[in-house]
Amino acid sequence: MEQGIRLSARHAETEISVGENLSSGLKNLDPRPVLLVDEKVMSLHGQHFDSFPVVPIPSGEQYKTIQTVEQIHRELVRLETDRSSLLVGVGGGVTTDVAGFVASTYMRGVRFGFIASTLLGQVDASIGGKNGVNLDGYKNMVGVIRQPAFVWCDLSLLTTLARREYVAGIAEVIKYGAIRSREFLNFLGDHMEGVRSLDMDVLKAVVTRCVSIKADIVQQDEFESGIRRLLNFGHTLGHAIERDRKILHGEAVAMGMVLAARLSHTLGQLGAESVSILERILADAGLPVEPEMDPDRIYDHIRKDKKKSGAQIHFVLLDDLGSAFVRKIPLTELKKMLHDLC
Ligand code: GLY
Repeated sequence: MEQGIRLSARHAETEISVGENLSSGLKNLDPRPVLLVDEKVMSLHGQHFDSFPVVPIPSGEQYKTIQTVEQIHRELVRLETDRSSLLVGVGGGVTTDVAGFVASTYMRGVRFGFIASTLLGQVDASIGGKNGVNLDGYKNMVGVIRQPAFVWCDLSLLTTLARREYVAGIAEVIKYGAIRSREFLNFLGDHMEGVRSLDMDVLKAVVTRCVSIKADIVQQDEFESGIRRLLNFGHTLGHAIERDRKILHGEAVAMGMVLAARLSHTLGQLGAESVSILERILADAGLPVEPEMDPDRIYDHIRKDKKKSGAQIHFVLLDDLGSAFVRKIPLTELKKMLHDLC
């Protein structure tokens, strides 16, 4: 097994590994795990998993519901899973969010780990302990923060990922450079071809760096009262665009980052050249950078989403490439800003 990255949270430690063919390590786990596997991953990579008890998880955001959780709980009862069992969620962000919530609630919580099979899952969704499901179209309305015992970022599983989904995951990779490290952003600028072509050496370096940045942020602010908010760079507008345009999360986040960078420039925080550099790296990755959107519709989505948290939003801006900060912006002001940006 590869040398791990350790995330030390308040109640638990997570050992994170990045490498090829990690799934073959399942046979060494004690106790023998019960696997909760995305059904698409099962059909593509079943040879790694079919000698274990497997509960399939349907693929797709529409199945990230409390009904799916209930079905899995029933299946775990049928398999006589108990408090001493080990559950391992295998799949992308939807699967690990559901599996982590199932494990956190079944018999008041059993030990669990993840094998992350998508780029977005490896660099973001599987790390940090937020697990849960959507409710009536609102994302992650029901959930917990509970850290997995381990996360394996198995780079070999990325080779069968749909191209568009893989490229969308690169948006979250670029986000880490934008908010935390100019040097990493430069590395991405120089090695984007290697990332796009799944060069395993480049990917290992890139995923390891992203995981290290996220682990560092989460262990400073597990319950998101401060620095963890920086991880939402590009997401406030991105979520609204995602709902409006029905595009992939990473594609919407790419547009959201471009808008947040342009807004940072308008507010006198970020130079025009820095905005161009970020846009170029996103474009080189194959991500959309021209947000075609109706500012009133986007505002409406944000306003609806924010009805739970008052009249201001925490907006993540850049004051340099590799350096982010949070500014509270009243919703009324945001409306005007959106019109200026579009
Ligand atoms: N599960 C993703 C996070 O905790 O940020």
